[in-house]
Amino acid sequence: MEIKQFRLTNLGRFSELEAELAPTAALNTNVTVFIGSNGAGKTSILKALATSLSWFVARLRSEKGSGSPIPESVILNGQASALIEVSIFDDHSKPSSLDSDSESAIYHWSLARTQKGKKAKFSSNLNDVSRLADFYRTALTQNEKLGLPLIAFYPVERVVLDVPLKIKERHSFLQVDGYDNSLNQGVDFRRFFEWYREREDSENESGLPQDVLDKLLETLGDNNDVWHKLQSLMASSRDRQLTAVRTAISNFMPGFSNLRVRRKPRLHMSIDKKDQTLNVLQLSQGEKSLMALVGDIARRLAMMNPGLENPLHGDGVVLIDEVDMHLHPTWQRSIIERLTRTFPNCQFVLTTHSPLVISDCKDVLVYSLDNGELTPVPSQYGQDANTVLLDVMNTDIRNAIINTRINDLRDLIEDGRLNEAQALLQGLEAELPAQNMELAKARLLLRKELLKHAKNN
Ligand SMILES: Nc1ncnc2c1ncn2[C@@H]1O[C@H](COP(=O)(O)OP(=O)(O)O)[C@@H](O)[C@H]1O
Ligand SMILES: [Mg+2]
Repeated sequence: MEIKQFRLTNLGRFSELEAELAPTAALNTNVTVFIGSNGAGKTSILKALATSLSWFVARLRSEKGSGSPIPESVILNGQASALIEVSIFDDHSKPSSLDSDSESAIYHWSLARTQKGKKAKFSSNLNDVSRLADFYRTALTQNEKLGLPLIAFYPVERVVLDVPLKIKERHSFLQVDGYDNSLNQGVDFRRFFEWYREREDSENESGLPQDVLDKLLETLGDNNDVWHKLQSLMASSRDRQLTAVRTAISNFMPGFSNLRVRRKPRLHMSIDKKDQTLNVLQLSQGEKSLMALVGDIARRLAMMNPGLENPLHGDGVVLIDEVDMHLHPTWQRSIIERLTRTFPNCQFVLTTHSPLVISDCKDVLVYSLDNGELTPVPSQYGQDANTVLLDVMNTDIRNAIINTRINDLRDLIEDGRLNEAQALLQGLEAELPAQNMELAKARLLLRKELLKHAKNN
């Protein structure tokens, strides 16, 4: 499933906003990124898409289900009604006799909301969302191995504060439970933990528990034939869904492996970081939130795709607000590449404030939001972060006051006002670190000019 395009009318700050999402005819990528300053409307776009898709999830669960309404506060001030329209393409629902761009695989639906006591300007049309949900419900009845499309929204509030240790109830997880809380809070660590523990228990029933394996490894050593035989036997009884989650996490976080539930000394989740074993609570905020995000996407895909050998290849739509949040610059740089490599069939709609996110990926559709208008941004692949900041994010790359003074310094040197230049340079040297590049350049230039001046006199 993928969103082909959407249109918002009188929603948030937009009176009308329309955009096509990747992949488009011109750009074969699964990633669209929205950039723009605070208040530009990035979050509003993702929330609108999530609201619209929530109707698909609701109608998949039950025929007459209702998704989330558009909140009244989101209707553009001064207007009576707001409207969200989406066009969705769903490859699975198209009869195999038709080619891929067949109209019957495209679903349009619209969701309207009117202020209380006002006359409605728009009305909802949800026939197609029912048609699509119906297709999945019918197909699921005939084929239990059918995959469901993942639909998830990760808002800025997705921060993981703690890992719940007490699990009150144990329940089994159904395929559609992959949608639980997927559109309102994103990362659901409590569910993640419950689910992981349940899968691990059943994995252990058909194999040996990790603690026993650790002991065996200690006694046998890892060069022992029996140990190798045991390892390959264990590998074949590994839980496919857990393997998917473990693989996704190690793809994103090199050096991390072996996420598992430990019962001693207390119930907790632990992970190996290089040669250390850590309680996941001991991880940094960045590590924790990346692990939770990736683990959550992988878990939901695993639950929803019981028929796939590799559940990470399941399809769906993933919306992530401020994807760079808490990430070290190195991780920001590679986040899109890792997302698309780990989840190759998901469509991603992202927002970011970081130039690094969009400068390291060749195939990505970037839109800049400014004053309620959308402009596609040319590829920023290979550009350095400063150029991206200057060109597309309209941001000074340096503190504005320092910037002006450095420019003044250059002008003074060029105009031959060398005494004044020297005084300004001294002032700047007192404030900036000695190795500052711009100062070093100015110092060199000034020395040259002083020499020239001395020669001429
Ligand atoms: N009902 C509304 N009418 C008019 N403007 C609104 C309304 N709701 C929100 N806004 C505007 O939209 C902006 C919020 O957009 P948001 O999507 O959160 O921006 P971003 O995520 O890009 O920082 C606010 O700054 C506000 O000015
Ligand atoms: Mg925002």
